[in-house]
Amino acid sequence: MKHILFIASLLTLLFSNPAQAFEDDSGCLLCHKYPKMGRITEKGTKRIYQVMPGVFGSTVHRNVPCTDCHNYIKQLPHREVTEGVRCDSECHSIKNPATGKNFTHKPIYNKFKESVHGREKIETGLDADKPYCVTCHTNPIYNPAEDKLPENIVDRCVVCHEDRDFVVNWYKHTSRRIREVKRSPSEIVELCSNCHSDKALVERHVEAAKKEGRELGRKYPIAVESYDESFHGKVTRYGFTKAANCLDCHAKKKNYYMNVHDIRPSRDPESPVNPKNKVETCRNCHIYADEGYAQLDPHPTSSKEGNAFRYYANIIYGWVGDIVIVLLVGMALLETIGRRRDGVGWILRKGSSWWRKSKRNRDRIQ
Ligand code: HEC
Ligand code: HEC
Ligand code: HEC
Ligand code: HEC
Ligand code: HEC
Ligand code: HEC
Ligand code: HEC
Repeated sequence: MKHILFIASLLTLLFSNPAQAFEDDSGCLLCHKYPKMGRITEKGTKRIYQVMPGVFGSTVHRNVPCTDCHNYIKQLPHREVTEGVRCDSECHSIKNPATGKNFTHKPIYNKFKESVHGREKIETGLDADKPYCVTCHTNPIYNPAEDKLPENIVDRCVVCHEDRDFVVNWYKHTSRRIREVKRSPSEIVELCSNCHSDKALVERHVEAAKKEGRELGRKYPIAVESYDESFHGKVTRYGFTKAANCLDCHAKKKNYYMNVHDIRPSRDPESPVNPKNKVETCRNCHIYADEGYAQLDPHPTSSKEGNAFRYYANIIYGWVGDIVIVLLVGMALLETIGRRRDGVGWILRKGSSWWRKSKRNRDRIQ
């Protein structure tokens, strides 16, 4: 599935971007440029092995040679591929301009490794349920904001740098970050829900933890359904973007882009939802939040066992709501019948639906 997503993101680009040249110095495209390259796996998934140069050339990784990522391919033609691309390997062709060293995502990987999701590229058993880099990241187009390339700024840079391509590429690189091109709150909720609302997956881990005598957060089994029931969850579902999404609470706000990779369970003192840090986390948005406010449950449940008070309050308020509606409609009906008996007609005029004198002279307003 991951691979299909990866390739699918490339495919969609075919229709949105004109061809952009990149160097195929390892000769992979000799074969991989051909359409129809692919196969059906033993599990019945369709895999597409075609790489479209124009499409690949528009992605964030366009400057990375194929063999820097697929570094397990040492000779051509290559053998059957059994390994995957590790996101913590070093690019041998791209230097980090700040440090002069080979570029690598290792710092992110090291954080991730210590987080609750930390895993290797190839895992078996329970760890295989955890997300790897490519679970969350496909190969995104270079910059969705690039359509709005401001010519006047580029013109200014060209005064000194002469080469327009250089300037445009650097502009795209930085503007993506300055404009904070990132997932929307509802996309984040969907991302985490993919796994955390998967009953079978959750069950597997609860069982295993029990067997191993390992602790899991008490909200672990109901994380998503309870969030959906919370105020934050409800308004986020309707498209409101200011309410807290999973990462607003589970990732530290400071150094956010690094810390989204450092999610920890609430029992870890480093977690922003650890009882020690909760007030501060709520205060990021609820500026007057205090100890009391932070006690409010962001993962509320209305089940009888989970929260008997909410369960009965729900039932009682449900009844109260129904009764109030029945009474209101009943009163309106009685009023209508009474007025009809008085001979008052039902006509819409001048903003009022009642407009005729009572035949029995029972008008209350003269
Ligand atoms: C001589 C033709 C040829 C060249 C050159 C070539 N490949 Fe392939 N590649 C293939 C074929 C054929 C398959 C399908 C193999 C299969 O179905 O097991 C494939 C499959 C792959 C796969 C997918 C394997 C899997 O099962 O997931 C990857 C990844 C890959 N190639 C990467 C590369 C890279 C990177 C290069 C350049 C360094 C390259 N290939 C160069 C022919 C080629
Ligand atoms: C930034 C790293 C990166 C670069 C650069 C890159 N790939 Fe990949 N490629 C991946 C990842 C990640 C996958 C998903 C499979 C995996 O996780 O191992 C993948 C999958 C593939 C597949 C197999 C698709 C499948 O269904 O298994 C082929 C074929 C492939 N790449 C060819 C290429 C070719 C040809 C190039 C150079 C034009 C290239 N890749 C450049 C990271 C990269
Ligand atoms: C559980 C999902 C998840 C996993 C797993 C994950 N990331 Fe991320 N990553 C995110 C989110 C969320 C962001 C913040 C940007 C956004 O919202 O799109 C992000 C941001 C990034 C950025 C910054 C992108 C930019 O344009 O500034 C990089 C680079 C990155 N991740 C690399 C990695 C690497 C490498 C791994 C594997 C070690 C990894 N990520 C694993 C969710 C994930
Ligand atoms: C007045 C001339 C001038 C203008 C205008 C200018 N630059 Fe530069 N730029 C330079 C000089 C000189 C250097 C190299 C010396 C240095 O690092 O200060 C440089 C360095 C850079 C570098 C670092 C390159 C590297 O590989 O280290 C980038 C990126 C860059 N400029 C982008 C831009 C962008 C984008 C703009 C427009 C928004 C711009 N510049 C406008 C003169 C200019
Ligand atoms: C690919 C599936 C997957 C995705 C996507 C995913 N998780 Fe997880 N998550 C897991 C698994 C598996 C565990 C490990 C449970 C265990 O330790 O057995 C876990 C554990 C956790 C825990 C700690 C549970 C505990 O009590 O130890 C938290 C908190 C968490 N995830 C939050 C998130 C958030 C927030 C997101 C979205 C950014 C997210 N997860 C995305 C699969 C996923
Ligand atoms: C308003 C803040 C907030 C939001 C939003 C939020 N959480 Fe939580 N989450 C918490 C707190 C606080 C706990 C600890 C609850 C407890 O044990 O009392 C927790 C517990 C959890 C746990 C159990 C493991 C642990 O660390 O105790 C998981 C898994 C989890 N959340 C996932 C999610 C997911 C997935 C989302 C989004 C769909 C989400 N959370 C949204 C605050 C939040
Ligand atoms: C990313 C920002 C953000 C964070 C972090 C956040 N909230 Fe909220 N929360 C909101 C917004 C926005 C609303 C809707 C406010 C409104 O309309 O009054 C809201 C509403 C609520 C409500 C509904 C009732 C009310 O007061 O309006 C509760 C309860 C709540 N939050 C509790 C919490 C708790 C407890 C935490 C910390 C664990 C927390 N929130 C963290 C943004 C946030």
